[in-house]
Amino acid sequence: MQAEPAASKLGVNIDHVATLRNARGENDPALIELALIAQNAGADLITVHLREDRRHIRDADVFDLKKHLKVPLNFEMALSEEILNIALKLEPSTACIVPERREEITTEGGLNVTQFSDTVAHFSERLQAKGIEVFLFIEPDLAAVKAAAATGARGIEFHTGAYARAFTHLPQRKLELKRLEAATAAALDFGLEVHAGHGLNYFNVAAVAAIDGITELNIGHAIIARSLAVGLDEAIFEMRTAMAR
Ligand code: PXP
Repeated sequence: MQAEPAASKLGVNIDHVATLRNARGENDPALIELALIAQNAGADLITVHLREDRRHIRDADVFDLKKHLKVPLNFEMALSEEILNIALKLEPSTACIVPERREEITTEGGLNVTQFSDTVAHFSERLQAKGIEVFLFIEPDLAAVKAAAATGARGIEFHTGAYARAFTHLPQRKLELKRLEAATAAALDFGLEVHAGHGLNYFNVAAVAAIDGITELNIGHAIIARSLAVGLDEAIFEMRTAMAR
């Protein structure tokens, strides 16, 4: 049985496969095996975040993925010269620039594009000169969208963490959805492509997938967690079903 096609593409973030592998220091589970299972299960792209502290994904992983995947590789990266040089060598299909703090458990908020506008523009130019499409991971607000558009990036990925946190509080959830819708409309007006992700799960994903103009969702934790119970291919199938609901 096929799930109804959702409006958005699904990028499967496999960082936490590497988290589990690193817990024992061997190659189990093998990241590439799981990436290929995700690809065969219909992931439209594979997303990884090579953090500066290499807490999950490592340098060799990204080159291995680039070599073996048929679907596009989406490379999340901080505004770091070291990581930029790796991206330029790797040449992933897309690079998504994210804020990064060593103490954080996960990416806590959107990039402050206004504060780092020159650096972001410089990174975008160098990456795009290599044919790598650049996306900026930002909060769904108009000032951030405007600042992102001025950098020459191809598009943005909206941080959906505030929406996900508000999910059980209906008025707040509606407000966060409105913010996402308004920010998406503004981004489209600027000619930006719009993606979204962070904190999306089987319960909260449908409303975001239904927003007109959002063409890609990147989802990691919920899918990898669910895969422990049902297997990665079934977890991806269930997510596609949830997106189309
Ligand atoms: N998008 C970006 C830019 C991220 O940094 C992350 C987290 O690594 C995700 C999406 C996926 O978030 P989650 O693991 O909560 O689905």
